[in-house]
Amino acid sequence: MSRGGPAGVRVEARAKLNLGLQVGRPRPDGFHDLVTIFQTISLADTLVARPRRSGFTLRVRFEDAALRRSGAPRHGKPSRTDVPMGPANLVLRAARLVAERLDLRGGADFTLLKRIPSRAGLGGGSADAAAAIAALLRLHRRRVQLRTRLEWGLELGSDVPFAVFGGTALGRGRGERLTRLRLAEPFRAVVAMPEWHVSTREAFIKMDRMKKFLTGGAIPLGSGQSVAREEVRPLEALRVGNTFERVLGSHTRAFGSLVQRLQASGLVEPRMTGSGSAVFALLPKHVSSVRVANAFRGPERLFLVRSMRSATRVTTIR
Ligand code: C5P
Repeated sequence: MSRGGPAGVRVEARAKLNLGLQVGRPRPDGFHDLVTIFQTISLADTLVARPRRSGFTLRVRFEDAALRRSGAPRHGKPSRTDVPMGPANLVLRAARLVAERLDLRGGADFTLLKRIPSRAGLGGGSADAAAAIAALLRLHRRRVQLRTRLEWGLELGSDVPFAVFGGTALGRGRGERLTRLRLAEPFRAVVAMPEWHVSTREAFIKMDRMKKFLTGGAIPLGSGQSVAREEVRPLEALRVGNTFERVLGSHTRAFGSLVQRLQASGLVEPRMTGSGSAVFALLPKHVSSVRVANAFRGPERLFLVRSMRSATRVTTIR
């Protein structure tokens, strides 16, 4: 720990949406090329890091950030079983990676307040990893080029580079080839969290099977790129679609029902984010989130979110 450093650091670790997502062929390295439009949103975990002499520790707490509806069943509450608590947690993996690359002395005690649902396509784990990188750099008063931080991110997961980058971006390759985009107008959306979850790895495997069956292997990546050439209008980006919506198997019916119920409650263009299971839809201007929450029928938890221009907010604890 550098002398006279802060007593701690607090980082807001924001979730993401994939406004549109087109997946291409599997590559020789086993990953898939994709084209996506990433958008940072206001739903966020909070990571606090305090310096310690050596090693890294992690405590995780859970907070339900869903819109309240009196009497509504509380399905899909965040739970410990969905988040690795040990060394596999992305916070600890990110911290170890940064400490090793920068040869940092001293460790940190991390406390993570989880609000972002897991295995939902919201990039919660990736946001936590990006937050841990930011926290350690601030604790040690070190600055590292964006390019290097993006490379570290990719070592931790395909979505971590965007979690470092933030805002609105076109993602290509595994999602790590990022181009900054301008959002034509900020937007509000409602995210609905089903009771079922999705394993990203399994979703990609299913897609390979399905795609052979459907199209002989090729899904055009073109329209995702053309939408993103200039500034991004949320509605246009959403119309790119999400390839994962076609490989839901036994969840297809549940997804269709959720889309229909979101529309019926006054929301626009429901879309899955990432490989799911969360589904989001735009909240039109002048429509109140309370009205939507009251009109919505079903057990899913709803989160009100808005588009954000940066991935993390770092504050120093004196
Ligand atoms: O990179 P990450 O660990 O988040 O990816 C989880 C799994 O999803 C990978 O092991 C891989 O099977 C699959 N994946 C993929 N193509 C991508 C991203 C992820 O096949 N672009």
